[in-house]
Amino acid sequence: MAFKLLASLLALTAVSNAALVRKATCADGRTTANAACCVLFPILDDIQENLFDGGECGEEVHESLRLTFHDAIGFSPALTKQGKFGGGGADGSLITFDTIETPFHANGGIDDIVGVQKPFIAKHNITAGDFIQFAGAVGVSNCPGAPQLDFLLGRPEATQASPDLLVPEPFDTVDKILDRFADAGFTPAEVVALLASHSIAAADHVDETIPGTPFDSTPDVFDSQFFIEVQLRGTSFPGVGGNQGEVESPLKGEIRLQSDHDIARDSRTACEWQSFVDNQTKLQNAFKAAMAKLAVTGQDVSKLVDCSDVIPVPKPVTGQAHLPAGLSQNDVEQACAATPFPTLPTDAGPVTSVPPVPPS
Ligand code: HEM
Ligand SMILES: *[C@@H]1O[C@H](CO)[C@@H](O)[C@H](O)[C@H]1NC(C)=O
Ligand SMILES: *[C@@H]1O[C@H](CO)[C@@H](O)[C@H](O)[C@H]1NC(C)=O
Repeated sequence: MAFKLLASLLALTAVSNAALVRKATCADGRTTANAACCVLFPILDDIQENLFDGGECGEEVHESLRLTFHDAIGFSPALTKQGKFGGGGADGSLITFDTIETPFHANGGIDDIVGVQKPFIAKHNITAGDFIQFAGAVGVSNCPGAPQLDFLLGRPEATQASPDLLVPEPFDTVDKILDRFADAGFTPAEVVALLASHSIAAADHVDETIPGTPFDSTPDVFDSQFFIEVQLRGTSFPGVGGNQGEVESPLKGEIRLQSDHDIARDSRTACEWQSFVDNQTKLQNAFKAAMAKLAVTGQDVSKLVDCSDVIPVPKPVTGQAHLPAGLSQNDVEQACAATPFPTLPTDAGPVTSVPPVPPS
């Protein structure tokens, strides 16, 4: 009796699911929620093979993720209120109007990935705005520990370049950074969540003498080491000192941005920062939600098609949250007033030195 009831319940669910979710089967046999998303599979295969070197979480992924941000943050309702053009947000203007936007100071080095992505856009039927966010979401899926990011399809071509001075600089004050993000629609907590991107990141141009210097000890894993290591006392510069926007880091071969250092220690953001130290699930969920917002900044979401199921599911995180070898809880600069920094195991072995991210 109970079995019969269960069986008919199951049958009912199957029927109503079929009615609600009409899965489209694409030419190559893969399925997606909407037939309009089928165009993405050939692009997915092409970029995994030829942009991300066979599905790596390497330099091209890092640069593609940075590009999603620099394109999207070119959006300012405050400028629009003054009667000026405030930028179109995640509209691809950074590529469509690259001769105007790549020379902006805050976009230093972005011309690299713009040059690499352009031929892919030319080859496929996709707008620059869609491609930038798609490549970012696919790229992040190659990093163990990352969430499966959303991807919505259908951004129209950009009509104008973004104005200069909308992309935050590492030497900006926390006030200035939070104001800029608030203008674009992001809360301080969302800013902290977005900075999880610096967990899979390196700098080429902060100290030009040491290109590829990572922000944490695991730049090919989307983990919380970035949040842990930025909270440790800085003791030296990985290269030459005196660079604008750089402060001392705790590890050889690791670079620290002044902005990351300050946001980790500001009373408005320090507790949110610390909350990511030993909570990978929260880190994933918060980053996914903030990236979903970033990716449609300035866009009319009602005109976009949800193609999130085309994005591959990332592998789980490898390793567990730890203090780098040679350092201890005493090296933590406690900044959250409400709760103590979590107690973490220290990595065994000799004092950690971080190798650079190899160029691809
Ligand atoms: C407070 C705001 C931010 C500032 C001041 C900032 C600044 C920087 C700087 C100076 C670099 C090094 C660039 C170089 O020298 O090559 C960098 C790298 C990077 N940023 Fe940010 N960033 C911010 C927020 C974000 C956000 C919101 C994202 C993405 C959602 C992001 C993603 C990245 C990535 C992935 C890299 C590494 C690029 C690579 O390895 O080639 N950043 N950022
Ligand atoms: C290119 O994509 C647009 C929008 O997705 C579509 O309307 C158009 O038919 C496509 N063109 C070709 C040649 O596939
Ligand atoms: C992780 O964060 C979530 C969401 O804020 C919270 O509900 C949960 O208690 C946290 N888990 C731990 C182990 O701190």
